[in-house]
Amino acid sequence: MQDKIKTLNDKLTQAYLGGGQARIGKQHEKKKLTARERVDYLMDEGSFEEIGALVTHRTKDFGMENQKFYGDGVITGYGTVDGRLVYVFAQDFTVFGGSLSETHAEKICKIMDLAIKVGAPLIGLNDSGGARIQEGVRSLGGYADIFYRNVQASGVIPQISAIMGPCAGGAVYSPAMTDFTIMVQDTSYMFVTGPNVVKTVTNEEVSSEELGGASTHSVKSGVAHKTASNDIECLESVKQLLSYMPQSNIEKALDIPFELQDEIRDVLSNIVPDNANKPYDMHDVISGIIDPDSFYEIHKDYAENIIVGFARLGGKSIGIVANQPMFLAGVLDVNSSKKGARFVRFCDAFNIPLLVLEDVPGFLPGTDQEWNGIIVHGAKLLYAFSEATVPRVTVITRKAYGGAYDVMNSKHIGADMNFAWPSAEIAVMGAKGAAEIIFKRDIQAAEDKEAKWKEKEAEYADLFANPYSAAERGFIDEVILPKDTRRKLIKAFAMLEDKDVNRPKRKHGNIPL
Ligand code: HXC
Repeated sequence: MQDKIKTLNDKLTQAYLGGGQARIGKQHEKKKLTARERVDYLMDEGSFEEIGALVTHRTKDFGMENQKFYGDGVITGYGTVDGRLVYVFAQDFTVFGGSLSETHAEKICKIMDLAIKVGAPLIGLNDSGGARIQEGVRSLGGYADIFYRNVQASGVIPQISAIMGPCAGGAVYSPAMTDFTIMVQDTSYMFVTGPNVVKTVTNEEVSSEELGGASTHSVKSGVAHKTASNDIECLESVKQLLSYMPQSNIEKALDIPFELQDEIRDVLSNIVPDNANKPYDMHDVISGIIDPDSFYEIHKDYAENIIVGFARLGGKSIGIVANQPMFLAGVLDVNSSKKGARFVRFCDAFNIPLLVLEDVPGFLPGTDQEWNGIIVHGAKLLYAFSEATVPRVTVITRKAYGGAYDVMNSKHIGADMNFAWPSAEIAVMGAKGAAEIIFKRDIQAAEDKEAKWKEKEAEYADLFANPYSAAERGFIDEVILPKDTRRKLIKAFAMLEDKDVNRPKRKHGNIPL
């Protein structure tokens, strides 16, 4: 028996070494943790149970039968994060560059199947040179097996991708189909084709970082939801993100114990400037409302005219969608509509209530927006809110103009409670533009055109640049003092806790993609 135990221990020791000490050294030189170190850091101490540590590839071509490493370039298993079950795979760059073979894919699929059956989040720590070149189509098949499961898991269990090294070719499509992608600055990149292929096909010269680094994907493409400055920060970010989520779509997120006190926040009374054209930072409104330091912002540097993220309010996990007057006056455009819609759909799929903070002058006009399809992209946000059945509450802090009023979680599209601050202006458009259109003739006929315009602008503003016309019709449930907002919201979400909506049976809707 002792011999047999030794054989097992030797094999496991070999498995723990991945591609060997020299390659581990190279990984560290690049300021990257190894796959095993990442798993250890992510999971609660001693909780990780590995599955398939002794798997090896089956390839015989190109002398591969003589190059076998236990685990075949990926560590898979389950354990807990903050005491809650998660499934994890971590690609091991020290073994064939973490490239994906048929068996490597089978290991990932095995834990994906378990995660879906049991109902617990899946975390992927990606660090891979893509398809195992020596395996050809078998590797491509492996990718497709993973993609298929990503889609079956979508909306059933949360899926989070950490990109902690290269991620090239088809490998990018698995992260793209998961719910959140976090990239590590300087050591990770994602692209469908690398700089060499780009140069051959389009003659563009571009570095890996510029083409698909963390900054590119967090600012320009929106592919990355979050960036981290190193591996540790990335893994911390994954843990924090998990804390807002339920285990699966049939559960709710965990509540932190909370007792209602006075909850008055005077700071909220002094944020919105009297001049409606002056910007202010909606982050100040968010932090005045939520539990201290609880905001986890998603897509922080992408489409900054809308803010989305998770927070806690009275101990409960909520999703926030807020216009940002500091950036493009908080207007809705192609990118902000896509960003908002995707976030709303995640929250709705996973029973996370939605809070909307609204200060929006409308959709952004112009050929750029029209030609890029603002009609279809704006419709995504409208569709996402309209189909969401989670508790939905809106607070209009200032402007709610035009179609954007309808889109931003208005009562008409199914919001449950809609509040407005006294500074709210709910109208088809701003008073100046409105006066110019509907009083055009009066203004042109007047001796002092400027004075007439001002007079008509004031007339329109008097009627609509306030929340009362909407409140009279019941489109706004209550006009509230800013300082009462936190208390009102905690009570509204508590009241909506057991909201239950049944939609007519259908296969699925047809969101304008
Ligand atoms: C097999 C691979 C590999 C791969 C890297 N290695 N990529 N082995 N298949 N795809 C091996 C290397 O041979 C090397 O082995 C080790 O991993 C580390 O690689 P290096 O090149 O030394 O590392 P580095 O300089 O850091 O460069 C990393 C890299 C580069 C940028 C990822 O290796 C690279 O460009 N690899 C190929 C990327 C690629 O084209 N993949 C296919 C994408 S197409 P040793 O023994 O020396 O340690 C694709 C299609 C999927 O994925 C489609 C699905 C729909």
